Amino acid sequence: VDVDPSAYEYGATGAEPRMYTEMLEQPASVERTLRGRLDERFGTAHLGGLRMDARELRAVQRVKILGCGSAYYAGQMGAQLIEELARVPADAEAASEFRYRDAVIDPDTLYVAVSQSGETADTLLAVEEIRRKGGRAVGLVNVVGSAIARACDGGIYLHAGPETAVASTKAVTTMFVGFALLALQLGRVRDLSVADGKRLVAGLQQLPGQIEKVLADEDRLARVAATLSQAQSMFFVGRVRGYPVAREGAQKLKEISYRHAEAYQMSELKHGPLALISPEVPTVAIVPDDELTDRNVAALHEIAARGGPLVVVTHEDVDLGELSAERIDVPRNEKELDPLLLTIPLQLVAYHAAMNLGHDIDRPRNLAKSVTVE
Ligand code: G6P
Repeated sequence: VDVDPSAYEYGATGAEPRMYTEMLEQPASVERTLRGRLDERFGTAHLGGLRMDARELRAVQRVKILGCGSAYYAGQMGAQLIEELARVPADAEAASEFRYRDAVIDPDTLYVAVSQSGETADTLLAVEEIRRKGGRAVGLVNVVGSAIARACDGGIYLHAGPETAVASTKAVTTMFVGFALLALQLGRVRDLSVADGKRLVAGLQQLPGQIEKVLADEDRLARVAATLSQAQSMFFVGRVRGYPVAREGAQKLKEISYRHAEAYQMSELKHGPLALISPEVPTVAIVPDDELTDRNVAALHEIAARGGPLVVVTHEDVDLGELSAERIDVPRNEKELDPLLLTIPLQLVAYHAAMNLGHDIDRPRNLAKSVTVE
């Protein structure tokens, strides 16, 4: 399917959708999240706003991340970073579920509320409940002075700059960076070596330049999006670090293109969804070059054998063998930081799919930028 260039004229003014400008701002927004917070000498991060000293950071037994929508998926990426780097058990839960299930509030758990607006009612009410019961909650918030930022014991501001498009882009990637900083600081007062700390500091510093490279691949991503936009339904799959990336990719596509997209763990495909794979149902697979690549590629063969069209977001070194797939390569970084660079092509794919279908990108039907009511 060819992309219709007239689809890129936006509205009466021809101005670009805000989602588009916000996507392109990501190198600069990530740079701002990092600014003044990295310590190259000791391979760590300094997050004064957390208001926690080394002794308090060492006492954390668990991390529980709470957010809604894209912030929740960024939280899932963050939980993995924290487990990998700080070796503290961590998980993310939808704040909207957490607050209704009468959760046990544990004084040794660090609760992290993640929100772009800082006004999402479900996340705010979760924080208030945690604090009422003696838990410590910190915020990972973009809007300074927002309700969630005020309700928390301390926090990390994202400094992504204003985000106004409903489909969140630069907030998601700066949330990831915020979690990486938190994981570094938490890790370096525990068991993370100085060498590993320095390796990650260097990796973080490379991100803005690498994001530029992914964004520069836009024409190709637009072509992939044009093809995908013809399908009524598709899967986004990934394993471990790739799974929250798949969830966020599916979310973005659903929100603005109104196509059905379902995220699945690659490992669970054979336990059900494989039944739906056919030439009409494409799969977007997240396959970074890591310890799971071989298993992921084996799963792709299962999809291909059933005639399922494949788009594979991967790294240059990954050998897909005979597989017939549309591949999208992103630059290599430290493997713990892979989710950020793997997320960006999926934003562009969702954007161009929606453009191709002629939708109003910044005002998707039925959705609000921030849900401040219960
Ligand atoms: C709404 C938006 C989503 C967003 C979620 C959380 O549902 O439509 O795009 O991810 O709220 O928003 P927050 O401001 O808390 O990050």
